[in-house]
Amino acid sequence: MFGIEVPIFAFSHCRNVVSEVTRAGGLGVLGTSYYGPEALEQELDWIDHQVGDRPYGVNLLLASKYETIGQETIDFRRLPADHVKFVQDLCDRAGIPPLPPAEREAMLDHEVRQIHMTPEHAQQLVDVALRHKNIKLFVSALGTPPKDIVDQLHARGIKVGAMTGKVEHARRHKAAGLDLVIAQGTEAAGHTGTVSSMVLWPEVVDAVAPMPVIAAGGVGRGRQMAAAFALGAQGVWCGSVWLGTRESELEPEMKSLLFKARSDDTVQTRSRTGKPARMLRSKLTEAWEQPGAPTFLPMPWQSVLNTEPRLRIDRARHPEFLTYPVGQIVGHMKEETSVRQVIYDMLEEFGGTVESMGQLAEFE
Ligand SMILES: Cc1cc2nc3c(=O)[nH]c(=O)nc-3n(C[C@H](O)[C@H](O)[C@H](O)COP(=O)(O)O)c2cc1C
Repeated sequence: MFGIEVPIFAFSHCRNVVSEVTRAGGLGVLGTSYYGPEALEQELDWIDHQVGDRPYGVNLLLASKYETIGQETIDFRRLPADHVKFVQDLCDRAGIPPLPPAEREAMLDHEVRQIHMTPEHAQQLVDVALRHKNIKLFVSALGTPPKDIVDQLHARGIKVGAMTGKVEHARRHKAAGLDLVIAQGTEAAGHTGTVSSMVLWPEVVDAVAPMPVIAAGGVGRGRQMAAAFALGAQGVWCGSVWLGTRESELEPEMKSLLFKARSDDTVQTRSRTGKPARMLRSKLTEAWEQPGAPTFLPMPWQSVLNTEPRLRIDRARHPEFLTYPVGQIVGHMKEETSVRQVIYDMLEEFGGTVESMGQLAEFE
């Protein structure tokens, strides 16, 4: 479908990871949730320049429905006061310095402007993507993309896929005329459902056949890749494993927390965006699970609420409060590596696994 040499798809917010995976023969997909149209244009121009004629993709947080808490304008000043007090007190008690008072409002306004969740904004990003000829894949997170967007992408020859954590959603994607689905088990980083990859992948493969399924959630090495193919997938889609590479967007402090984490150090929490998302467990995620913690705000307001504590924690680099989306495969990530090394190691272990499985099946 894409003419790639290696059936490894990489989700990343980082252009270096995206271009390096594509250059290594896989297909990098840029997460666009933090970008406005101008910034996205710049990132895509840069990637185009790196990848030559090779294909890459973009992923957009296209919610199938948009919620509000009574007003449309996304502004941190409109957050419920009790919620703001909860997160401020939490940081104060931990001794995490406040934002500099003279700059606070400007910093928060700047950050909150990066939270784009309206259909109008989605269309602007799609328009930018349509102008970049190497984009061959568009993936919708959080729901089946609207028909008019699918039609625009198809008219340009771009394949359209969508994330799914449930077999019913996969059927909906197929009915909407999409080209592929990414079946993502609960092990994965970011927004996830509750069904494990082991159960979800074959279920989705059977439900949407002959539509191709790419397996996501818990894939970081060759044996997991072999399992994905054994369960009927036609490619793997990885997110967490790139976070530990030298190309990744993470600061050294965050990387070293990931390298120390075990597979059970992640938690599925609504505290980041309002919808269940898997992250590294931290004192911030734990505080939201305590009795007396406020209710979660709907998307995108929980992300707005999170902006100030996130900025404070990141600036202080507080090791017990720092957190980031990461999946259970984190337990396998032990030291800094590179995108090429990850791909090489995966393919090598995949080759060995397939060979030994072949021997298992040879009967006298
Ligand atoms: C830091 C990070 C942010 C993510 N954000 C998104 C996102 O915005 N949209 C999306 O569809 N998936 C997102 N994901 C999930 C990935 O697309 C992918 O499905 C998942 O990471 C695969 O499972 P793994 O983490 O076990 O590799 C994110 C993953 C990571 C690591």
